[in-house]
Amino acid sequence: MEKLKMIYEGKAKKVYETGKEDQIIIEYKDDATAFDGEKKGQIVGKGRLNAEITTIFFDLLAEQGIPTHHISKLGEREILARKLDIILIEVVIRNIVAGSLTKRLGLAEGSELKEPILEFYYKSDELGDPLINEYHIRAEELATEEELAEIKGLSFKINSILVDFLADKGIDLVDFKLEFGKGSDDKLYLGDEISPDNCRLWDSKSKKKLDKDRFRRDLGEVESAYQEILKRLKE
Ligand code: TMP
Ligand code: ASP
Repeated sequence: MEKLKMIYEGKAKKVYETGKEDQIIIEYKDDATAFDGEKKGQIVGKGRLNAEITTIFFDLLAEQGIPTHHISKLGEREILARKLDIILIEVVIRNIVAGSLTKRLGLAEGSELKEPILEFYYKSDELGDPLINEYHIRAEELATEEELAEIKGLSFKINSILVDFLADKGIDLVDFKLEFGKGSDDKLYLGDEISPDNCRLWDSKSKKKLDKDRFRRDLGEVESAYQEILKRLKE
């Protein structure tokens, strides 16, 4: 599939048109940002690693009946995907307390949650992706009632699949972010990526962080953490 005009460049990816109207090529960059782009850097090899990691997760989800935008892996750092009209909601699922939840509710990092928490954020870089709830989504018509129900159902199902898969690899899925969109067939699909950039992944025994928190918090060994995740996923 041929890479044509670049139609979008984000903080961690570039998106290209292809010869087909409803397909895009996503190229994963080594660039990393945090705190709404305030912190900038590069993680050597990240683009290649994330393209491979996200492919493993999306293939697994597709096998389990989750509709995803992923079609196939192309080059080292590229995937072919269905073009989506992205819904402006970011879904975060949390299994263990970490990140912004520690601050918001004054909870200790690493505390177990009695059941997974689903949060919605409004996807807006200018506003710093503020936390919203279902009433905001309805009032602002960010999604229809049916889409909202489907998004919640799929998100919890994705969480169960990933938690079990990762537990087998000795990894705790602490939390992660999902994005959904509508295809040209008007169906809902999981979009974006699933990688150490948008998941918190801890070694189950040592609780060592194997994700982008190593970059956010200057913990070092960032690239080797991403490599470790890929190695375990392939085991
Ligand atoms: P948070 O604890 O900072 O709210 O993050 C929750 C999860 O969402 C974590 O796995 C990282 C991911 N995330 C993104 O993918 N993009 C973002 O912009 C933010 C803030 C978090
Ligand atoms: N990717 C986001 C940013 O650049 C935030 C993050 O992942 O921490 O701001």
